[in-house]
Amino acid sequence: MDIEIILSQIEEEAKNIKSLEGIEQFRLKYLGRKGIVAQLTSTIPSLSCQERASFGQKVNSLKNKLAVLIEDKQKGIAGNKEDAQVSYCDIGMPGIAQEIGHLHPITQITEEVCSIFSRIGFSIVEGPEIESEYNNFTGLNIPLEHPSREAFDTFYLKDYPKMLLRSHTSPVQVRAMKAHKPPLAIIVPGKVYRPDAVDASHSFMFHQVEGFIVDKGIKFSDLKGVLELFAKTVFGDGIKMRFRPHFFPFTEPSAEVDISCIICKGKGCSVCGQKGWLEILGAGMIHPNVFKHVGIDSKRYTGFAFGMGIERIAMLKYGINDIRLFFENDVRFLKQF
Ligand code: DAH
Repeated sequence: MDIEIILSQIEEEAKNIKSLEGIEQFRLKYLGRKGIVAQLTSTIPSLSCQERASFGQKVNSLKNKLAVLIEDKQKGIAGNKEDAQVSYCDIGMPGIAQEIGHLHPITQITEEVCSIFSRIGFSIVEGPEIESEYNNFTGLNIPLEHPSREAFDTFYLKDYPKMLLRSHTSPVQVRAMKAHKPPLAIIVPGKVYRPDAVDASHSFMFHQVEGFIVDKGIKFSDLKGVLELFAKTVFGDGIKMRFRPHFFPFTEPSAEVDISCIICKGKGCSVCGQKGWLEILGAGMIHPNVFKHVGIDSKRYTGFAFGMGIERIAMLKYGINDIRLFFENDVRFLKQF
């Protein structure tokens, strides 16, 4: 009897077995006392020495294969029988939860800020990240000798003279005021770039939101009212605000705006450097020279503008002390928001 042929037959034969009785017959046929394996084994002593070893091995592997096949078959048929009687679906078992992603914290804060302003009538407008030197500086009344125009404070494009990566979102003021007549109420979210060495509070790319209003009779008190609404919505009703005189070329008068420290409530702590106040944005009344560049008559119209860093707002709101966390894409950090 050729073992190779038997090996190829047993699988075929096993396939057709449908009952436990069938398995028993199959077992007896091959592994029974008078079965085929026993017959094959009994021929071993009559073989020559050279043949014995390899034949013995083949018989053994046939035996093992049969044992596995029979066991599998028994389990399969027994399992089917039980399946017919009991359902194995345990509906009380916890399911496999799918992980659901969410927006990045910077996107969340950007959307929150934009939605606060859009609820009071501001339109959301975006501008390009590659900007002209004119829109980024000149149109905003930033003089040629201003240090921010130096190559170490702004990324200029090597092959495109007078083009750069915008260093703030303020150039969209120039674009919007040229494209549309007042009254205007616009909010501008977006990325900005500065060649700063990266550390806990600096990144070569970050996000800003710029806002401005142009209309007849806009006053500094309008700016205060709008910003107060903003700060109270983001940081809570208990927050206090103060305006510190400051200088920006594109606004006059200009101010830096602080909120009372959200950690110590103004008493002084390590987060606010014992001052009790945290700077959140720059603002002011749009400079007449900016209006001149865009062709708006500053005798008829006035306006206010403000600009804030989104990372800074997010860091204050959530108590984050390192800006790099926003850009490292560590899901353990991002999952918290
Ligand atoms: N563009 C300023 C910056 O990036 C922020 C700013 C300050 C924007 C005062 C304004 C403003 O519109 O009035 O630092």
